[in-house]
Amino acid sequence: MSEVKKPISIYIHWPFCIKKCPYCDFNSFVAKDIEHQKWTEAYLQSITQYYSEILKDRIISTIFFGGGTPSLATPNMISAIIENLANVSEIAKNVEITLEANPTSVESQKFSEFKSAGINRVSMGIQSLRDENLKFLGRNHSVKESLNAIDAVRKIFHNYSLDFIYALPNQSLAEWEIELREAISLASGHMSLYQLTIENGTKFGAMAKQGLLDEIDQDVAADMFEMTYNITASHGLNRYEVSNHAKQGYESLHNLNYWRYGDYIGIGPGAHGRFTQDGIKKVMTVDKKQPEIWLNEVMSKGNALEVNQTLTDEDIRIESIMMGLRTVEGISKDLIKCEEEVIRQLIADEMISQKDETIYATPKGLAILNTLIRMLCI
Ligand SMILES: C[S@@+](CC[C@H](N)C(=O)[O-])C[C@H]1O[C@@H](n2cnc3c(N)ncnc32)[C@H](O)[C@@H]1O
Ligand code: SF4
Repeated sequence: MSEVKKPISIYIHWPFCIKKCPYCDFNSFVAKDIEHQKWTEAYLQSITQYYSEILKDRIISTIFFGGGTPSLATPNMISAIIENLANVSEIAKNVEITLEANPTSVESQKFSEFKSAGINRVSMGIQSLRDENLKFLGRNHSVKESLNAIDAVRKIFHNYSLDFIYALPNQSLAEWEIELREAISLASGHMSLYQLTIENGTKFGAMAKQGLLDEIDQDVAADMFEMTYNITASHGLNRYEVSNHAKQGYESLHNLNYWRYGDYIGIGPGAHGRFTQDGIKKVMTVDKKQPEIWLNEVMSKGNALEVNQTLTDEDIRIESIMMGLRTVEGISKDLIKCEEEVIRQLIADEMISQKDETIYATPKGLAILNTLIRMLCI
């Protein structure tokens, strides 16, 4: 009997954007002239030279082209990468292949080519249905362009997701409710609804430090969170992770694999990987972040790894807690080592709940997720 192959996911990071948004701390860069052919060769090189050995006995269950703005890449690059993966590994028949897209007219024209290249799911960054909010978020598209892009995408893909950012400074609960209801009317099976976070190292981060940017009142943000998952659920889009909502069967399989702490390879500037290798439980990789350095190293030696280390059992335990607590699936109680009394108190404070041997973060606990993780990891 042939051995059952272990599934693995592939993340491909495309690091370029037309414009850097002031809130964004993803590894993304504005570049005028992108040498598409060279970038295609580099991704192929990395797969063939470095990852083919790991992938040869595995089955690829999901592929995710993230960024940056991978909808700026060429459909030829996407199809070449998928073909190359199929050459070095087996791709599952029901593979999910996602592309992150921005809703500008340039990208809308490319959707059918992306479909022919092998993409079967699109995640589109709409962010807001109000032009004044898009302006505040520094986006380079209008609401009208977004609506046209959604029209274009829904004609071609039945599985698409829309990203929105809420809890903006001065946004009221009532304003978000009206916008959310409009957003739901445009959605298909999946929505990612993020509260704006002010990240260090971004333009918004610098403005906040100088007192030039107000943050939303935390009580209003908590009310918005609760309202968001109640309204989405009433439309069949159930929250299955902090910010992700889906109809049954439309959950992002790629992201679920991260949260369930499954194996994945990350290729591209700044990409992360976690996978089993040669019997080692988990290897952690991080690629060099600077696009030019990444490209040159991959072309000269087949990889551009900044980090390539074996994780200890303790690292694995902590990362499993950090990932699993984000989901409604929760985590196994076996992962937790803190005193029983701490667990009892967190349950009494309605921060976590327990059913049989599984621990879940409640909405109140999710609001202080990092603190909660620290308490449960000790
Ligand atoms: C990799 S990013 C963007 C993909 C695509 N380039 C775009 O902008 O639409 C994925 C999503 O993270 C969200 N995001 C990024 N930074 C954020 C922040 N500081 N606060 C809240 N959401 C954020 C946005 O909704 C964005 O669509
Ligand atoms: S939010 Fe998207 S478009 Fe804006 S800088 Fe980040 S990755 Fe690029």
